Amino acid sequence: MAFIVFEGLDHSGKSTLVQSLSKELKNRNIEFVLTREPGGTTLGEKIREVVLHPYDPISPEVEILLISASRRDHIEKVIMPSLEGGKWVICDRFWPSTSAFQGAGRGLPAERVKWLNQFTVPEHIAPDLWVLLDMPVVEKERRSQIQGPSSDRFEMQDKIFHQRVRESYLSMAKENKDSWFVLNALLPKEELKKQVLEELKKRKWLHR
Ligand code: TMP
Repeated sequence: MAFIVFEGLDHSGKSTLVQSLSKELKNRNIEFVLTREPGGTTLGEKIREVVLHPYDPISPEVEILLISASRRDHIEKVIMPSLEGGKWVICDRFWPSTSAFQGAGRGLPAERVKWLNQFTVPEHIAPDLWVLLDMPVVEKERRSQIQGPSSDRFEMQDKIFHQRVRESYLSMAKENKDSWFVLNALLPKEELKKQVLEELKKRKWLHR
């Protein structure tokens, strides 16, 4: 059983990688849940809608509180029961996104963000592995231009915002080398999947 979280800038290819990993787990008859934040529960998905789509301007404080509420609901209703039931949990984003986007990106004080993350996430809900899909911000911009204009509250932020987000992720990964696995998001999809599978085998969570 493993609890694995995928992190990265928008357009880093997280969701595609998570989908291809889930196919591999299915082929190996591994029981798992695939989930995401913000979201993962009925309430969480409603909060996601509000947080991502800027109908109304909201302050960084309101943003972080909404995201944290969604996270707690997700932990209580999905993550905790799945882990207790012996299932793997594959999660697209978790609390490092809050440190990176609301802390580094929005500029909320790091100590307060850390406190709120600790208040929201019970100590024993600790992922076994964080996979960071790292890429330069210019590549994020290139990929978002291909997709066309977006009204997503985070997509609309400038280059400097995303640069701070990237640096925050890289520093979290550097501080916790054993539990973070940094991938070069510029690599082809198949290669990224291969590297993740190799890492899971190295950690003896997969045997083939
Ligand atoms: P994604 O599901 O496409 O990755 O998009 C979710 C967006 O929400 C992404 O731009 C990052 C943002 N987000 C935060 O700002 N803080 C958080 O804690 C989480 C989980 C996501």
